[in-house]
Amino acid sequence: MKTIKYNVAKVFTNEIKNIQKVVKNNHYSMNGNFTKKCQDWIEKNLKVKSSILTNSCTAALEMIAILMNLKKGDEIIMPSYTFVSTANAFVLRGAKPVLVDIEESTLNIDENKIEAAITKKTKAVIVIHYGGISCDLDKVRKITKKHKILLIEDAAHAILSTYKNKPLGSFGDLSTISFHETKNIHCGEGGALLINNPKYIKRSKILRDKGTNRDEFNRNIVKKYSWVDIGSSFGMSEISAAFLYAQLLYSKKITSMRLKIWNYYYKTLKDLKNEKITLPYIPKYSKHNGHIFYIIIRNRDGLLKYLNKNKINCTFHYVPLHQSIAGKKFCKFGKLNKTEILSKSIIRFPIVLDHKILNFKTITKIKNHINKYFQVEENI
Ligand SMILES: Cc1ncc(COP(=O)(O)O)c(C=O)c1O
Repeated sequence: MKTIKYNVAKVFTNEIKNIQKVVKNNHYSMNGNFTKKCQDWIEKNLKVKSSILTNSCTAALEMIAILMNLKKGDEIIMPSYTFVSTANAFVLRGAKPVLVDIEESTLNIDENKIEAAITKKTKAVIVIHYGGISCDLDKVRKITKKHKILLIEDAAHAILSTYKNKPLGSFGDLSTISFHETKNIHCGEGGALLINNPKYIKRSKILRDKGTNRDEFNRNIVKKYSWVDIGSSFGMSEISAAFLYAQLLYSKKITSMRLKIWNYYYKTLKDLKNEKITLPYIPKYSKHNGHIFYIIIRNRDGLLKYLNKNKINCTFHYVPLHQSIAGKKFCKFGKLNKTEILSKSIIRFPIVLDHKILNFKTITKIKNHINKYFQVEENI
């Protein structure tokens, strides 16, 4: 058997043709036709008021931290089990991430632990939707409304997932998604800022454009453009936007292909007669996008090694922020027991959209490998 890679970024339809159109039009930098098409698609399909393509989800998070006008010592509540960018964007502006534990059924922030972390300095709660499976947004929104703080969704994993049939990304005052090549829909490196609170729309265009009002100049609102605010080069090149637009138009098909594989895994591994393994849980309010298939198993490392030795590229995931060098320095946190246990227990499985590589038969083979591992382990 050939190695089954964890992820293979793919080209599906008109990505190359679209890039050829960019070359023909001779407009390569940000904010061209494909950027506008992508933003229109996002606003319509993710039901958000406004969107801005960025060069990464990290860049979109950094824009949010600027839009919030944070002061040194302001606090932002988030799970410890997330990618570094969720926290780093706010640390860059002098704020302090306050890390909360996750709950075991979804690996999302434990909504019941948020309120105890709120202080006078709290400015926002950021949730992530791990593997595209939604956290309980009604519960979180109730808390952020009560304390008059912002709700931010880092929906890096969650394009086309929903909570109570409404797209993720459309709940936060501000939200982000990622189009990194490891994500369902990609353009190599890329992301988007999603804006649901209209008061942020005008300034976000200035921040993206190095702190200038070039957007107003392009729309003939001002005669010259100049430096009007802080900002950076957060936008996406037209070449990437052209690639991305083809993926967005094909995104519903891509999602259904991922879900097919996710469901094969679920059906097959459900039959494993091993009480040590827990499969993902999908709450009733969530429709997910098949971004990650994982299992939870104590003493994970032996099985992880065994699967990789047998050419199945399974992998772990985040090092909890509070256990990282920078997290210890920049964040505030108490005991985060579940995060520590679960982060040591997760195994993520390959999702490759190539029927020859990953299908019901190969997934059954993967299950047989897991069974074999347990038989060997029992006999030791
Ligand atoms: C939850 C989360 N937020 C943000 C990011 C950063 O995304 P990007 O690589 O597009 O900056 C990631 C990356 O995987 C992520 O998992």
